[in-house]
Amino acid sequence: MQRVFSGVKPSGIITLGNYLGAMRNFVEMQADYECYYSVVDLHALTVPQDPQALRQQALTLAALYLAIGIDPQQATLFVQSHVPAHAELGWLLQCSSYMGELSRMTQFKDKAAEQESVTAGLFTYPTLMAADILLYQADVVPVGEDQKQHLELTRDIAIRFNNRFGETFTVPEPVIPKVGARIMSLTDPTKKMSKSDNPASYISLLDEPNVIKKKINRAVTDSESVVRYDPDNKPGVSNLLVIHALCAGETVTSLEDRYSGQGYGVLKRDTIDAIVAVLEPIQARYRELMAGDGEQVLAILRQGAERADAVAQATLRRVQAAMGLILP
Ligand code: TYM
Repeated sequence: MQRVFSGVKPSGIITLGNYLGAMRNFVEMQADYECYYSVVDLHALTVPQDPQALRQQALTLAALYLAIGIDPQQATLFVQSHVPAHAELGWLLQCSSYMGELSRMTQFKDKAAEQESVTAGLFTYPTLMAADILLYQADVVPVGEDQKQHLELTRDIAIRFNNRFGETFTVPEPVIPKVGARIMSLTDPTKKMSKSDNPASYISLLDEPNVIKKKINRAVTDSESVVRYDPDNKPGVSNLLVIHALCAGETVTSLEDRYSGQGYGVLKRDTIDAIVAVLEPIQARYRELMAGDGEQVLAILRQGAERADAVAQATLRRVQAAMGLILP
């Protein structure tokens, strides 16, 4: 069975962009692949975090993974920091990657511009991400469009390592959805929907129906009043069409047909209904999982870490031996 690895940072709200661009596919892939999904908390530390909030967000994210349908019997769900091999391989790969290639990462440039002071971790972040993926010898990595460049770097690192030290890593392929790879901000549809933006710009997976209604009703469109998919000229309307299509399990073209000649009000009303229909059952499962103090979620994470650790350790040992470290 081919292997899948993917991760989500617990650095704030989990958005509809995370779900439609990536997490939804995690669920679809779990029956056909051996899947490893992670709450990548070490990645969240690259920018300042309040410790108590981080703990809560990590638990929330783990519960959301389960609430969207990740089945711990089928997939391995774990917290990155529970498997020490991530940090260890991260270091070894830092020593196998170059300042030049890391400096070219557009996400680093964007994020660094937002920070008053930039941590060394933010700069070397893509090497830790490469370690996440390569530790599990993942064949495929489902991600949104914004992670494409990091996946290319991961492939470069793996190929270079294999050439230098002998076949060690599987070279992974990204899986980026054709529709939904870049869900856009509701307030500025030329930018991607991001959890670090202001709340009006995103839908949280935990937003209540009345909040979703308010945000979609205020979503930026245009003055043309024609429902048409045209991301360059009509980014707001196109974004609503994509969100609606994915939530309703329809194609963008069929929605274009249905709403042609209708105003944006009708499109928005039905988009709200489609989002609420997807999120309500997720939120109900989430509340069940978090009842008490989330103990059942923590138990699943402990089991997941044990399974992940065994696979990760085996790769780490191979890498250490290949690089010339004396094994303990
Ligand atoms: P993160 O936590 O920012 O996002 C998690 C996943 O959601 C996707 N995504 C989106 N997709 C479509 N539209 C959007 N607006 C949108 N916003 C986010 C992201 O592409 C991602 O797939 N570095 C990663 C986490 C990570 C990782 C990994 C991923 C760490 N190690 C190994 C894959 C494999 C990140 O920050 O994702």
